[in-house]
Amino acid sequence: MILSIESSCDDSAVAITEIATCRLLFHKKISQELEHSVYGGVVPELAARLHAEALPKILQECEPYFDKLKAVAVTSSPGLAVTLVEGVTMAKAVAVALDIPLLGVNHLVGHIYSLFIEKETRFPLTVLLVSGGHTQVMEVKSLTEIDTIAKSMDDSFGESFDKCAKMMGLGYPGGPLIQELAKNGERKKYNFTIPLQQSPLLAFSYSGLKNAVRLAIEKGTPDDYADIAASFEHIATMHIIKKLKKYFLHVAPKCFAIVGGASANLYLRGEIEKLLKPYGASLLLSELKYCSDNAAMIGRVAVEMYEKGMFSSVEDLDISPRSEL
Ligand code: KG4
Ligand code: ZN
Repeated sequence: MILSIESSCDDSAVAITEIATCRLLFHKKISQELEHSVYGGVVPELAARLHAEALPKILQECEPYFDKLKAVAVTSSPGLAVTLVEGVTMAKAVAVALDIPLLGVNHLVGHIYSLFIEKETRFPLTVLLVSGGHTQVMEVKSLTEIDTIAKSMDDSFGESFDKCAKMMGLGYPGGPLIQELAKNGERKKYNFTIPLQQSPLLAFSYSGLKNAVRLAIEKGTPDDYADIAASFEHIATMHIIKKLKKYFLHVAPKCFAIVGGASANLYLRGEIEKLLKPYGASLLLSELKYCSDNAAMIGRVAVEMYEKGMFSSVEDLDISPRSEL
């Protein structure tokens, strides 16, 4: 079995995965959403302190499995430096105490493997990762063959939902709150511009749209928020759809997946389904409970890394907060 730990942002999570079968034997996550909600976003130092409390508590529950563990895996990149350190430090302590090898897992690869929790892998895949930290299109052939086709030049898709929600005083995380509010709004009410529409670049940008939303909020009243939320969600989604359409002119999709916390967004899912239909491409999604950050996806990657012998030593494993794919 492999013990896996996730602490790259505001979720403290630990899982135990059986190596031979990929079965998930234990998974627990303690979210900090409530604590960060009052600030309208994640406060890194507060997050680190909450991880330091939560992770050892969850680890204690894993004690019955300790004598069966063959490795300990931990998210070591990318993420918030002060929170990654909490998980990595605990993983190193476990590795030393139980004398088992250590695996450093990339969080973005984790999101890709959230598709395969308790399942066989399925490659090749075109993957759209939409989370609080990333908006990225990738061609994935295997664990180690991942080509990034497009990424955001500034804010991410999920982050733009968080920032718009914060400007409207809705709370954090903004994604589900904006999605809910948008249900009662008109998508065409505000004529926000689709970002980078004239640009031939396969890239994303959400900072301009966020500013347009800020201006609309400043000019309007809370009665306008539902229409603003609906129009924003529409344009944020159309930005992705337009760029994917451009990419598909060159590479027709066969098997497409959406992963990451914001892959829970129903409007985005629906629009991507429509986009894929003429190609006859299949759409893979993670189970809703594994879209947002969790340790089960880290454990699933760790099984692959274990089988390939991709271990790190306690001395060498370091955090890489900004590492990209
Ligand atoms: O993957 P995740 O849990 O953490 C990161 O790795 O960043 O993603 C969290 C992000 C937040 O920005 C949150 O607002 C967004 O995912 N999110 C959504 C929805 N649910 C979560 N964004 C849009 N629509 C949603 N339904
Ligand atoms: Zn994530």
